[in-house]
Amino acid sequence: MNPTTELIHSIPVDPLTGSISVPIYQTSTFVQDEPGVHKGYDYARSNNPTRAVLENIIARLEYGSNGYAFASGLAAIDAVVKLLRSGDEILAVDDIYGGAFRLFTHIYKKLGINVRYVDTTDAQNVADAISPATRLIWLETPTNPTLKISDIEAIADIAHANNLLLCVDNTFASPALQQPIKLGADIVVHSATKYLGGHSDLIAGLVVTRTPELGEQIKFIQNASGAILSPHDSWLVIRGIETLHLRVKEHSRNALAVAKYLQAHPAVKDVYYPGLTTHHNHEIAIEQQSAGGGVVSFTLHEDTEEAAKQFVCSTQLFKLAESLGGVKSLVCHPATMTHKSIPAGKRQAAGVVDSLIRLSVGLEDAGDLVADVEHALRNVMEGDNLENATINAQWLNG
Ligand SMILES: Cc1ncc(COP(=O)(O)O)c(C=O)c1O
Repeated sequence: MNPTTELIHSIPVDPLTGSISVPIYQTSTFVQDEPGVHKGYDYARSNNPTRAVLENIIARLEYGSNGYAFASGLAAIDAVVKLLRSGDEILAVDDIYGGAFRLFTHIYKKLGINVRYVDTTDAQNVADAISPATRLIWLETPTNPTLKISDIEAIADIAHANNLLLCVDNTFASPALQQPIKLGADIVVHSATKYLGGHSDLIAGLVVTRTPELGEQIKFIQNASGAILSPHDSWLVIRGIETLHLRVKEHSRNALAVAKYLQAHPAVKDVYYPGLTTHHNHEIAIEQQSAGGGVVSFTLHEDTEEAAKQFVCSTQLFKLAESLGGVKSLVCHPATMTHKSIPAGKRQAAGVVDSLIRLSVGLEDAGDLVADVEHALRNVMEGDNLENATINAQWLNG
């Protein structure tokens, strides 16, 4: 059976009522027949039937053994780091999501967990960086926001040869395009806020483990720390997943059209998109991803915050907002938005330069999206004054 058909029909019909939509069990507790004798559920932090459906679906989608749903992507990341103890070290991709950097630096460093950042686009750099304290390798591929690609299979081999865990943040590709556990990863995390939810209407995170043993450890942390996903938001993610494959295919098609347009534009310096043959690790990308995904980033020849702001305040269909992966296109200026918590020197060294712009290419018509980008780039080239562009954007945003 085709995986999409299998996925759609793996979402269970409610055995009690026949409801085709998964019921939302909006309850805090469950009545027991005798102490400890119940129908598999005792308290809704520990488990909830709606959340359990989502957790089973994501485990299946990612080819893992166990899945767990959290209140945000960062809560999911936090649960994985809690597998470690003081004195342990993480080797992480250098172009890491800013919120993960903030969590590692400002929460876990003072608890004795050290993080070293490596350019993981070359697997040899990872092998060379391992120290006796290293316990966990942390990848995002593609990365946020410069779409760097790392070879999951090669790095999984390095991790296992050194008795380390490999965790992959699969938010950007989503399981519709890439399944890291099949390539050797031990843990996958998601900001389900993005493509899995898919409609910019919730905040959620997921963890999937390769083995039941690791799953039990995450389950313990989930229950002990308590950052669970609510029944209603679990239901929203389930509903998003029903159309995931369809959406991500279309996001990727639109993003490739926008990336190709940007590549030919005289105001644009570099375009980062794994689906372009010019991408540094395009060969690895097409080996491990079935399409390029919906995010395109680019820099301007005029590498200034002002020029980038001119662009992001001039688009009309691409709304200026953090986040990505929704139906509506979004534009973001990482240096002053998602990645502002990373010190300027470190940020620039990882490629997040002042003019870098990130587009989350939505499901509108590709021609309309290209026309919107064209219009905004014209404003950049003509150096329209920013005040007018901002007024424009405010007016459009209502
Ligand atoms: C790659 C990646 N991982 C994790 C997160 C954190 O997810 P959340 O915002 O759901 O906490 C984000 C958020 O943008 C992200 O882009």
